[in-house]
Parts: sequence; C-alpha cells; structure tokens
Amino acid sequence: MQITSFKQYEEDYKKSVENPEQFWGEVAQNFQWRKPWYKVLSWDFKEPNIKWFEGAKLNITENCLDRHLATDGDKPAIIWEPNNPEEESVTLTYKMLHESVCRFANVLKRNGAKKGDRICIYMPMVPELAIAVLACARIGAVHSVIFGGFSAKSIADRINDSQCKLVITADGAYRGNKQIPLKDVIDDALIGCPTVEKCIVLTHVRTPVSMLKGRDVWWEDEVKHVNHICEAEEMDAEDMLFILYTSGSTGKPKGVVHTCGGYMVYAGYTFTNVFNYKPGEVYFCTADIGWITGHSYIVYGPLSQGATSVLFEGIPTYPNPSRFWDIIEKHKVNTLYTAPTAIRSLMSFGEEPLNGKDLSSIRVLGSVGEPINEEAWHWFDEKIGHGKAPIVDTWWQTETGGIMISPIATVTPTKPSFATLPLPGIQPILVDENGNEIEGNSVSGNLCLKFPWPGMLRTTYGDHERCRQTYFATYENLYFTGDGCLRDEDGYYRITGRVDDVLNVSGHRIGTAEVENAINMHAGVIESAVVGYPHDVKGQGIYAFVINPEMHGEAELTKKDILQTVTRVIGAIAKPDKILFVSGLPKTRSGKIMRRILRKIAEGETANLGDTSTLLDPAVVDEIIEAVKKQ
Ligand code: WT7
Repeated sequence: MQITSFKQYEEDYKKSVENPEQFWGEVAQNFQWRKPWYKVLSWDFKEPNIKWFEGAKLNITENCLDRHLATDGDKPAIIWEPNNPEEESVTLTYKMLHESVCRFANVLKRNGAKKGDRICIYMPMVPELAIAVLACARIGAVHSVIFGGFSAKSIADRINDSQCKLVITADGAYRGNKQIPLKDVIDDALIGCPTVEKCIVLTHVRTPVSMLKGRDVWWEDEVKHVNHICEAEEMDAEDMLFILYTSGSTGKPKGVVHTCGGYMVYAGYTFTNVFNYKPGEVYFCTADIGWITGHSYIVYGPLSQGATSVLFEGIPTYPNPSRFWDIIEKHKVNTLYTAPTAIRSLMSFGEEPLNGKDLSSIRVLGSVGEPINEEAWHWFDEKIGHGKAPIVDTWWQTETGGIMISPIATVTPTKPSFATLPLPGIQPILVDENGNEIEGNSVSGNLCLKFPWPGMLRTTYGDHERCRQTYFATYENLYFTGDGCLRDEDGYYRITGRVDDVLNVSGHRIGTAEVENAINMHAGVIESAVVGYPHDVKGQGIYAFVINPEMHGEAELTKKDILQTVTRVIGAIAKPDKILFVSGLPKTRSGKIMRRILRKIAEGETANLGDTSTLLDPAVVDEIIEAVKKQ
C-alpha cells in the first residue's frame, strides 16, 4: 500500500479516479476485517448519504493492536514524554497497550457503557488518554474527546448535544508551568448534564478533587476490579467510531461524525504514505488528541500501521524553547509533524535553542493546521531538516478525517507554502461564486471535492440537515471545504485560507459568530463584531469591535472582564487579542455588519475600503480607523 515512486503515484492516482472502488477495495485489503464488504462505495452528495465498505465487519482496535501482537508485541507503540523533562518517559509496547486497553474496556463495561453509548473524554496528554480512546472503540462506544482548553460551558454543550452517558477525565493536567484543574471544570460542566451517569477520574497531578458518591470513581481503583481480557465488539463498517466537535461560521459547534471502516482505511493509508513511514522508525506528532490531528495521526493512523508514536504532554517552550529538539534527540525521532504556529514561535527564539542538539535522526518533516508562510517553511527546512528532510505540508480538515492534499515524503515534490498535489482518491476542484468549475492552471477559487473518500464525515451528530447545509448545499453535488485555494502553473495547490467567517488561531478553528455570542453575553455589551487579523505567531489573531458597553470601572478593566466572560463561555483559546470600543459598527442599510470593512481596518489596509457611502452611518468607519491607529 506504500507508494514508492512518482510514477507509481501517477498510476495510483489515475486508477483511483477511473476506478475508485477497485482502488479503495485493494487498499482496504491491507487491513483486518472480520467479514468482507459486499459493496465498496455507494454515495449521494445531495442527501448526503455516503457508505464505504458496506456489509463489512471489523473492530478498529484489532487493527491497531491485536494484529501486531504476534510479530511486534514487544515493539514500542507509544512513547510518552511527560511535561516535566526531569520525569521518566514511559514506553508502552503493543502488548502492554493491548492489555491496558482491554482492561480499561472492561472498566467501561463495569460502569455501564455499551456499544453505541457516547462517552466524553476530557484528559491531559497522557498514555491513559490513548487508552481511553481505544477502550471506547474496543467496546463499540462512541468517543467524543474535548480539548483540555475548553470551558465548562463548552463541555456541557457538547455532552448534552450527544447525550453522553459517561465522562473520563483526570484530576488535572500540566501545561508548561501551569496546572489545569480538569476535574473542577468537569464538575462545573456536569451540573447541567443530566445524561451523565458516571465519571471516571485518573490520578495525574494529585490535586484535591471532589468525588461525588455514586457518580465519580477513580481509574486506579476500577482497573483493580477487572481482568485484561476483552473480546473486541464486532462493528459494522458504517457504525459510528467517534464524534469530534468543530466550529463553523454560524451557531454552536457541530459534532462531526466518523465511522469505523472508512476512517480506519483512510487514516492508515494516508499515514503510511504521506510520512513514508518505515518499520521501526519513531514518529512524533505534536498535536493534542483533543483535535482531529491527534485522533488520526497520534492514535489511529500510526497504530494501525504498527508504528511507534510519541505522545508529548507539554508545550514547545517548557522548560525552554529547546524542548522539541531535546525530545527529538532523546527518542531519536525520525518524523516530526507539527504546526506552523509552533514553528514560528520557536523561530522567534533564534538559533541558540538549537545549539548542540542532535537532530540527525530527522528524515521527514510535516506541517498542518494553517497555511505555512515561506519564512517558516525555509527555517523548518534548513534548521530542523538540514535541507535533507522533505516537508509535507498537509492540508485537511476535521471533516475529511485524514490528509487530502499533500506531498508524499520522498516520493512527490515539495514546494514552499504549497500543499502541492491531491493524494490518490482525492478529487479537488476549484469553483467560482456560482459553482462553476474553474479549469486549467494559474487560477484561484473555492476549494471543493467532487468525489467521496473513505475518511469523510458522514453526518453531524443529531442534525443531518445541518451537515447537508454546511457542506453539500453551497454547490450542487460538491463537498465545499470553506477554503480558498490557488492552483499554480504546475497544477500545485496552495490553500489561501478560509473564505467564510471562520478564524484559524494557532491552528485552532474558531467561528467569529461563536466569539461574538460569547462577548455579547457580557453584561453591558450591546453588540460586537469579530474579525481575524494577521498575527506573527498565531497566524491569525482575534480582533473584537465592541459597541461602547456600559463600563464598570475603567475601560481596560472592562476589557479584561469581557475576556473573562469569553474564557467562561468558550475557553481561553477564544480570547480576543484586541478589543476596541466603538460607538457603532459599519452596517448596510438592512443592518448587516460589513465585516469586510472591519477586516481591512484590522489588517491596517485602510486606503482601499471600497465604497462606504451606502453604509447606514459612513462616519463610523472614520471613527474606527482613527481608533485602530491609536491602539
Ligand atoms: C482548516 C481545518 C486538519 C487538521 C488541523 C485543522 C486549515 C489545515 C492546512 C494546511 C493551509 C490548512 C484550513 C482547513 N488548514 N491544514 N496545510 N494549509 N490551511 O483542522 O480545525 O478542522 O481546520 O484548517 O483552513 O479548512 P480543522
């Protein structure tokens, strides 16, 4: 299943387009199925209704664990690197991981979990997080992992949306020199979550926590009551594997649904190919399992291929900005998969943190989450890869399940700031405003996909119509990504960023409407408008224009109060970088906020605002321009 030459890439690509069912049918043979499929694909983008490997039975954990035991049982599956470098790292072999997963799967059963139940996971980046995820999959329960940076309210909304029965958490998490009281946050969330019956709490930081009788149990106590034998539940290829919430341009976050068979095939196929993974190599993805990158490229993709995956609890700058390089040297990492925001942040410390670090093990580098600027690309290439490690700039989304457009390391060419070519099976097209295909090269448009792939989302939990509206209704018979894209003279793709009201802050997707709703919840705030602006490290920063609120004390304090409200409502990751109080917002006569104008002002591009005379109150624009300049 691994592509070894550009010629093979071209042949495979051609085959995948001309005969997708045969192509994916053959790829899927590389996995273990309890029962084969009777149909590779049936699809309809109108409904949408997409089914891959229909009739097939499997359990993804048998592919990620059991099937490696005979030959690779003693091979490291997970190497855990703790937040504190003074602490010992932990290696779990495939045998050990299998045993722990089975044992914890029995704990889940003991606490009432059954196939199809939704389970919320809110945990630090520790091996037990991967164990919890896989244990859910083992018994056919649907996991919904929530990133540790979300607030109690965000957690409650997600738990209620998917009616989770169980929560798995820890007392707390370490993040650099900070401690995050996970269980406290969960306790606040659960006040408003009637469906949750049990909460399993892992001891990690050993901070005092409240344990509610009848609801809360300790992980360490529970595992003593069960053995480590747990037959995997037989799942249909199209049974739900997990839900992952992600933000959009409107309303509350959507629960993106991925299913067992197609997701497994796609995560495994893309992992082995994009990173050109070789048996025995050490692979390090710096994402958090709370995001899709962690699901697909720390857990399921690598483990399905018998790889060794590094799981890092901490942050790139703790205890100092050499941390990644120390980890690479310590564990002889061959592949580093990280985000442009991390690269830019580390770049800003200069070369000193790299002095004396042995990065010679590095063979492949990867980037994900947002467009990588040329400066960061070259720094990554020269300083980390020493010009010898191909950089795979991987474009994909929570909804796509796996990498879509990307170089294939050592096989297809790279080009700074380009995601380059579609992987086999992926058919991108660019369309104009009206949905007409823009053909040829040296063109830009809205990026769509015209044919299904096994890893694509199937629905948004509990609201199929929303899935149709969001992704399949903008352009007929196409999946719309929400991204703008350029196809250059060589036919290479470069993602230029979102064309909707979605921000990408440090690789995290945040809807402007969501932030506005949070700001507007603050007492005294009447209305606000949020836009993105270029930020040196984060890629995009959040700029909030707030109509002069009722002040409680001085303006600076009121701004801090608003930030606190946003932190409460969404989480610290959604805190605006800048808040500006204004007397009005630029609106059309029909009352629609002209974000385009605010975006330009926030970007400092005030010379070219276009026609503002049709605005309800054109004078407000000058006022805002002046105020931004003064800030
Ligand atoms: C959005 C998806 C996919 C895992 C992480 C983010 C942007 C992602 C790239 C890239 C340019 C990128 C897009 C996309 N994005 N990768 N290599 N180059 N932009 O997942 O939160 O679902 O966000 O991230 O705008 O639509 P996500």
